[in-house]
Amino acid sequence: MYKLEDVPPAIDNASTLGMLAAEQPLRIALFERLHLDYCCGGSTSLDDACTRRGLDVDSVREQIEAVDRGGSRHDEAAPEWRPREATIEELCDHIVSVHHDGMREEMPRITELLETVVRVHGADHADLEVVEQAFASLRAELEEHIEEEEVVLFPTCRGLEQGSIDPAGVEPELIARHRTEHEAVGRKLAALRELAGGYELSRALCATHRSLLEGLLRFETDLHRHVHEENNVLLDRVDALLDGPPLAGATPVDVLVEALVELADAGRAERASRLAAKAYAGLRRGEPDQAQRLDALMHKLILSPRYNDDKE
Ligand SMILES: [Fe+2]
Ligand SMILES: [Fe+2]
Repeated sequence: MYKLEDVPPAIDNASTLGMLAAEQPLRIALFERLHLDYCCGGSTSLDDACTRRGLDVDSVREQIEAVDRGGSRHDEAAPEWRPREATIEELCDHIVSVHHDGMREEMPRITELLETVVRVHGADHADLEVVEQAFASLRAELEEHIEEEEVVLFPTCRGLEQGSIDPAGVEPELIARHRTEHEAVGRKLAALRELAGGYELSRALCATHRSLLEGLLRFETDLHRHVHEENNVLLDRVDALLDGPPLAGATPVDVLVEALVELADAGRAERASRLAAKAYAGLRRGEPDQAQRLDALMHKLILSPRYNDDKE
């Protein structure tokens, strides 16, 4: 029987491609086919992205809706991996084991294929050496980038989720820097496609060249998904945990005072006052000025009408 909840939500032309891909990962295959950049250009609206690619937005919207209804013959079966439903810990584990480890395996293989193709056909096809150089440059950048993610970014993301890292202590530019690096990688990836003739298999010069073009195409598709999972899911979630710039530069006592005021506002003024007293006792010898702030907060809370409400 047809149920009301089977009706997919209407697609808004103003929705961003990153949001549309995160909402329903099945749409990604369609975006790849139409060359709509949903990862590095994930903040672009459907409308603007279609205009840039010279596509009719209404027709693209209908195709997305067909994918949502399961009516498209082009797109693959529902992927089991749904990044939006994962925890930050699971996201980081997935990105490392699937995308980073996959790239570490695939990049040397592609490099070897390029070396063979340039050696055999380079004399008659000078463009192949240009592709080789472009891939080498992209590979070097990616190796450095994923290393930093595994050593700095992901431990920070995990720590923020677990509460073992104070958002105020996180380097303010960390997230923005990764987004900028993703944009640079996206530009190099697009340039590589251009240089390699759009990975058009009919232009393959031999079986090795064909393997190379297939490998580059798979590499591009995987990198798009990889950057999408980082930009539009992981980093968006971490941005929310960091709660924007107001906490940047705040001291631990600033954060504690803010949290205690929120606790009191939530109707637990007595509990907030007890915690302020505890923190005051711990700080009064080493940090008398900071302790004074907690003492003042404690008295303010005791005098608050909410404090007496708590006890009822
Ligand atoms: Fe990554
Ligand atoms: Fe990344």
